[in-house]
Amino acid sequence: MSGTDGLALATRGLEKRYGARVALAGLDLSVPTGVVYGFLGPNGAGKTTTMRLLTGLIHPDAGTIELLGRPFGRRDRHRLFEVGALIEAPSFYPYLSGRENLRSLAATGAHTSDRRVEELLELVGLRDRAKDKVQGYSLGMKQRLGIAAALLSDPRLLLLDEPANGLDPAGIVAMRETLRHLAATGKTVFISSHVLGEIQQLADVVGIIAAGRLVREGPIEELLEGEGVVRVRVASTELEAATRILDGLAGDGGVTPVPGEAGWLSIRFEPGRAADVNRALALAGVYVSGLETGSDLESLFLALTADAPSGGSEGTFFGLGGRRPEPPSGPSGPTGWLGGGGAT
Ligand SMILES: Nc1ncnc2c1ncn2[C@@H]1O[C@H](COP(=O)(O)OP(=O)(O)OP(=O)(O)O)[C@@H](O)[C@H]1O
Ligand SMILES: [Mg+2]
Repeated sequence: MSGTDGLALATRGLEKRYGARVALAGLDLSVPTGVVYGFLGPNGAGKTTTMRLLTGLIHPDAGTIELLGRPFGRRDRHRLFEVGALIEAPSFYPYLSGRENLRSLAATGAHTSDRRVEELLELVGLRDRAKDKVQGYSLGMKQRLGIAAALLSDPRLLLLDEPANGLDPAGIVAMRETLRHLAATGKTVFISSHVLGEIQQLADVVGIIAAGRLVREGPIEELLEGEGVVRVRVASTELEAATRILDGLAGDGGVTPVPGEAGWLSIRFEPGRAADVNRALALAGVYVSGLETGSDLESLFLALTADAPSGGSEGTFFGLGGRRPEPPSGPSGPTGWLGGGGAT
């Protein structure tokens, strides 16, 4: 493959169909070494399909995969000792304890010491429950054990499909610290999520996928640069006039109706210039009944995935409905974390 030097993970033209349904329509991912890469997309976009292809659980219809600088093909599943993965609900022996499960995985995989098993149990906050049978674990505890299992062979590349599923706020904070620490030591973390706040907090590089295609990829700050949005609400009788005025301000194509929210228009404009938007409308005799600004990953995400048919919930992403909720005040800060519950 060309142009994949220095990448921990690369896919080129990756395609996967399930029967007539196209899950991946030619995916090109470029994941640099030593970063946390956030793989974002709405339900049904193809994230889990990608993860399953990357770990050889299923095979592509077309395209290539390169893991840690080498092609990854049908006969390369053994190479997964270099790669740690957590995909969908991890499967463990329910009648063995958490510790016994990790030890049995350690015995069948790359050589791993008992000490490493204990360290990982400590790391994921399961030490106190390590001798209990996994069948008695909560969802989040199983997820924690899954993360420990993915880390077992001290992999250079870690693939995690929605690892925060089922984790409580303290668990999420702890996981985030763990993953940041791994990246700081030169490892590469590829993590999928549909929770934007999580990725915004965690990732260095983001890839956004919709309907089986990459719609944007790059360092998170670069993606957010120039992604300011101002939204205004005007009476339905004034929508046309407002659009015309704002087109003059933002340039053609810069103004779009907010899907599912009658009366709201979205204008690509620096949030700091929201007053200009308001003034221009008022000068023309159009008065807004609502105005909000944002410049976060959420706006970008909604803009990029708005047109893609969703495999899941029609037109709604992240349970937000058509429109994002009130934007956070000040610079986009943590969203979604409820603060540490301390119950690790
Ligand atoms: N085993 C399967 N058989 C048939 N279709 C499938 C199968 N697995 C996935 N699909 C379809 O492929 C598409 C991509 O699904 P995938 O699970 O990769 O999405 P996802 O991005 O992981 O979504 P989510 O956020 O809901 O986990 C969807 O349209 C889905 O219905
Ligand atoms: Mg999925």
